[in-house]
Amino acid sequence: MIDRTVAVNPESVLSLFEATALDGSPLPRPPGRPPWPCIALDRWAGRAFRMPPGDPRLEAISRGEPAPPGPLWNLEGAVRDWAQHPDWMDLQDPSSPVHGVTMLERDLYLHHWETALRGASRVLDLGVGAGRFAGWLLERGCEVEGVDPILPSLWRTLWHAAGGPGRLDLHWTTGERLPDLAPVDAVVCAEVACYVEDPEALVEAATRVLKPGGVLCLSVEATLGWAAAPGVAPGTLGALLDGGPVSAWGDRWVRTYDEAAVRALLHDFEILELAPTHYAVGGPFEAAAGAGDFPTLLDWEARCRAHPITRPWNRAWTVLARKRGV
Ligand SMILES: C[S@@+](CC[C@H](N)C(=O)[O-])C[C@H]1O[C@@H](n2cnc3c(N)ncnc32)[C@H](O)[C@@H]1O
Repeated sequence: MIDRTVAVNPESVLSLFEATALDGSPLPRPPGRPPWPCIALDRWAGRAFRMPPGDPRLEAISRGEPAPPGPLWNLEGAVRDWAQHPDWMDLQDPSSPVHGVTMLERDLYLHHWETALRGASRVLDLGVGAGRFAGWLLERGCEVEGVDPILPSLWRTLWHAAGGPGRLDLHWTTGERLPDLAPVDAVVCAEVACYVEDPEALVEAATRVLKPGGVLCLSVEATLGWAAAPGVAPGTLGALLDGGPVSAWGDRWVRTYDEAAVRALLHDFEILELAPTHYAVGGPFEAAAGAGDFPTLLDWEARCRAHPITRPWNRAWTVLARKRGV
């Protein structure tokens, strides 16, 4: 159990506790401190909010101002995409054109993580996005801390959770600048470490908040599979072959990983599983595999992983790792 009697300095929590409507007017705060029961957040559903950002650059980016070249381009692209294509961004909404495929991709990650996550009651979702994993965790009654640099992503995460099970707090910041949080049993960091300025700082932040023995569920883009997947940014092959991050304006700045780079990033962790995944959904063999149910997808994944020609073309690395210590 977390000790909720410990006084927290509101200046440092970067939390729903400090959230207001966009015009600064107060929102109906449930009693006590977050993480609040989602059932008590039902009056926040559909309401935009803001809070002091953990990274001061997020203010300008959230107003739509240009970000400096590099990883922050992704954030500029996300702000624009939320304004222009909210249906594509809101993955949890069943009417989103990408709901089906992104949930299938999520279920494939969970195939590797679910057993470990079932033992977790308090989880940090680092780079929570529109709440694809947070929603699943909350449905299981977890207490979730969600972190993301994009406000509309935080809104959707809350709106989908409002009135449902679990407890939630949200933080408008980058993973490199986390607020002080009570220790968690697990950190989910799905498709995030390939887009950030400082992946080592991201993993260090996750390490600090994890309990000893806690698990890190991490996924990143894999170099070859990313380059060959549908939707790759045109004109980026040279950067890829030169081993640098692939840089294209929009939401396409990507640092891809080979297996050695994943192991190097997680050098302080005990790696329980490092699986090449996402060949047949989101990966280069999606069209060739054709549509199918989840068992069929798992079968394609296993066959691609076992075959000497297809094996190196995984789109993602899916990692389950444990923080050392007891
Ligand atoms: C591809 S999305 C994945 C979202 C979510 N984890 C999921 O799997 O659905 C990448 C997410 O990382 C977030 N992000 C980008 N830079 C970040 C940073 N420095 N720290 C934390 N999150 C970041 C983005 O805003 C976006 O929500």
